[in-house]
Amino acid sequence: MSKKIVLGITGGIAAYKCAELVRRLSERGAEVKVVMTDSAQEFITPLTMQAVSGNPVSTSLLDPQAEAAMGHIEFAKWADLILVAPATANTIAKMVQGVADDLLTTLLLATPAKVAIAPAMNQQMYRHPATQANLATLAQRDIAIWGPASGEQACGDVGQGRMLEPLELVDLCLTTEQPQILQGKTISITAGPTREPLDPVRFISNHSSGKMGFALAHAAHALGAKVNLIHGPVTLTAASTIKTVPVESALDMHKAALNYAPKSDIFIGCAAVADYRAKDISTQKLKKQGDNMIIELQKNPDIIADVASLASNRPFTVGFAAETNDVEAYAKAKLNNKKLDLICANDVSQEGIGFNSDDNAMTLFWPEGKRQLTTQSKENIAFSILEIIASQLK
Ligand code: C5P
Repeated sequence: MSKKIVLGITGGIAAYKCAELVRRLSERGAEVKVVMTDSAQEFITPLTMQAVSGNPVSTSLLDPQAEAAMGHIEFAKWADLILVAPATANTIAKMVQGVADDLLTTLLLATPAKVAIAPAMNQQMYRHPATQANLATLAQRDIAIWGPASGEQACGDVGQGRMLEPLELVDLCLTTEQPQILQGKTISITAGPTREPLDPVRFISNHSSGKMGFALAHAAHALGAKVNLIHGPVTLTAASTIKTVPVESALDMHKAALNYAPKSDIFIGCAAVADYRAKDISTQKLKKQGDNMIIELQKNPDIIADVASLASNRPFTVGFAAETNDVEAYAKAKLNNKKLDLICANDVSQEGIGFNSDDNAMTLFWPEGKRQLTTQSKENIAFSILEIIASQLK
């Protein structure tokens, strides 16, 4: 389940980090609407936040235009999570008192959603007994208090009071309140392309972006799993809570997968593994030779089939199939031939889904069942796939 997040920005210097925070949340499939207090707008402009969130930014309780689009009560109900970041000492104190003198504090009273705050202030203000008592009161009301971190502050002081870094907040936003259906499970996932060298400067590869595998890794972590992500060369960054194992060639990926699979409860082969590699890799750069060139290729091992055939400690094994026609027949054949427990089949002849795109649609097949997932973001698809996997675990 991807998340609808209201980000409430208050007037602290760390507000400048909110553009990065919103970008990272969106990248991970969250829908973000931004509310800014008056003083927040002194630090970062609503226009910047609108551009990064792709949604209009709300700044006032008394704006008839904004209220006509989405009334503040409707807004408060829309959210799965309201994150106040940075949360100043002043806003924290207002929350304790139930003051509702602007849009953000009104939403915080009107929302049934989970509320989290990321305090950010001068270390002396943070240590003040009033702030400490206010934070204790909010914690008692089940408001999540994320941070602050220690370190050098914008004012030159050193101490506790820095807002957590955007990536840390993204992780907390996306893991909080998810049903922990994979708690105690270890999942290993392969993702992205492989690179098969021809000589020191050239390789054979494909257009796989790794997005689906990375989305599965993040969703699995959010659902409580310990995740190993074995990935080929990609431009994506995984959250620090995920163990990444970067590899290049299919042989490297095979070795890593067979190392991690027996220590895993679930193995998902999402990588677009090159079927063939060069039989001989030239140690020197290959020279141009006439109009045609023949390179002899040799078959790569089938990683997922080897994992599914493990004699002991075999994980629940899930593969992917990209097909252009007869999707069901080919996917079911792959399920049987590779001895998989479940296969996720995409029809890659459909435009705008699958390879290298942000959306996907697929049908899942397992020996006793089938489930169709309609076109949606790869992040949402990842949650649905993992829910089905969790329901099939013995
Ligand atoms: O046979 P095909 O390449 O269509 O199968 C796709 C599935 O098999 C995917 O899950 C992919 O990650 C996996 N695979 C593999 N090793 C290979 C080729 C494919 O693990 N050499």
